Amino acid sequence: MWYSTNLAPRAQIGYSTGTYMVIVGHCHTMPMEIEMTLNGTERTFEAERSDSLLDVLRRNGYTGAKRGCDTGICGFCTVTVDGEPERSCIKPVATIDGTAVETIEGIGTQDDLHPIQAAFVDNAALQCGFCIPGMIMQSRSLLANNPDPTEAEIREGLAGNLCRCTGYEKIIDAVQDAAERMSGEQTVVTDGGDLTHETAGCSSQDWSRGECDE
Ligand code: FES
Ligand code: FES
Repeated sequence: MWYSTNLAPRAQIGYSTGTYMVIVGHCHTMPMEIEMTLNGTERTFEAERSDSLLDVLRRNGYTGAKRGCDTGICGFCTVTVDGEPERSCIKPVATIDGTAVETIEGIGTQDDLHPIQAAFVDNAALQCGFCIPGMIMQSRSLLANNPDPTEAEIREGLAGNLCRCTGYEKIIDAVQDAAERMSGEQTVVTDGGDLTHETAGCSSQDWSRGECDE
């Protein structure tokens, strides 16, 4: 059924002018069910046909993906769909049915950060933080396709993700650092501390308590 709440009653349903038929809008309230594997768990969400993936995620508590421009430009809302980075604000949720979606909530926890998250923390690659979930999801896809990117490749890979705070330099450093960590060349820590004791089987806490030999 064609329907728009913004127009006069006759225009809402479409009417004949005698020369042509006016048809406007479509039903924004018709509910539908969307099934997806979200961060490894099969989920079913109720949605409206006009919803974006970001609408559905945020309405259901997955607020890691941020709403910035809402027009596909800033990258703040980046998630992956079947392994590919997507701007969830412009991804119609109807196209998501049956796919695998990953959000920032699925790649690490506060106590067990993903190596990219840890690298962003340890390189102080964030200020307000609003761009960071999208930046990390995009970086993750970049490193999955290119585990050892050059600085130019990182800049190109993140060109669609805007940051109004950092000037990007520390973000580039963090992605280079993450590439090293993920290649196994560097042990992952999340406190920016000396790594040598970690490799000796001594935790940061043990080290800070002076319980480890130098
Ligand atoms: S909020 Fe989606 S690209 Fe800006
Ligand atoms: S840290 Fe503020 S927008 Fe990137």
